[in-house]
Amino acid sequence: MDANEHVRRFIRGMTQCVEQAPSEAACVERARALMADLISRDDWLPDEFAQPHPQHYQQYLLYCDPLERFSLVSFVWGPGQATPVHNHTVWGLIGMLRGAELSQPYELTGEGRPMRALECVRMEPGDIEMVSPSSGDIHRVANAHPDRVSISIHLYGANIDAVRRIAFDPEPGAERSFTSGYASPRSPNFWPHARG
Ligand code: FE2
Repeated sequence: MDANEHVRRFIRGMTQCVEQAPSEAACVERARALMADLISRDDWLPDEFAQPHPQHYQQYLLYCDPLERFSLVSFVWGPGQATPVHNHTVWGLIGMLRGAELSQPYELTGEGRPMRALECVRMEPGDIEMVSPSSGDIHRVANAHPDRVSISIHLYGANIDAVRRIAFDPEPGAERSFTSGYASPRSPNFWPHARG
């Protein structure tokens, strides 16, 4: 199967998933299998969606469902780059494609109180992690490598750029609102029209 068809098959599978799954849990279970298949090879991500930025990590939108039931994003980490501590408010699956990243989960301990850091997870290619309001929604993610680019593929149960979320300062427990902001060089829904 060529690289383009590999991604289109994922998108068809996810579209059927959000249309047919009887529950969110069933949809996420199916989505995890689709993500595992997607990241099982590393020959399909066009270079334009794999470019790091010298100052901050990049988020390239690869596909957004027209009814915004899911979106697919490539996260490109320059050496040593990291996110703030943040939440998602919708389910998300993170699949490691290239390099490695560190996901540090946090939990709230009460208003105005420091957050509690939970066990950090190191992700290697093929690994999948989940975030969700029901199972743990707050983390900080960083490139595990100080000297090379890493890339993970993120799948969310919404158009993540349209979701208002919270970034936290874990020490005083302070918060600020934010949205992702895509860096994509092309318009959304690139894949159905992709080159052959
Ligand atoms: Fe995240």
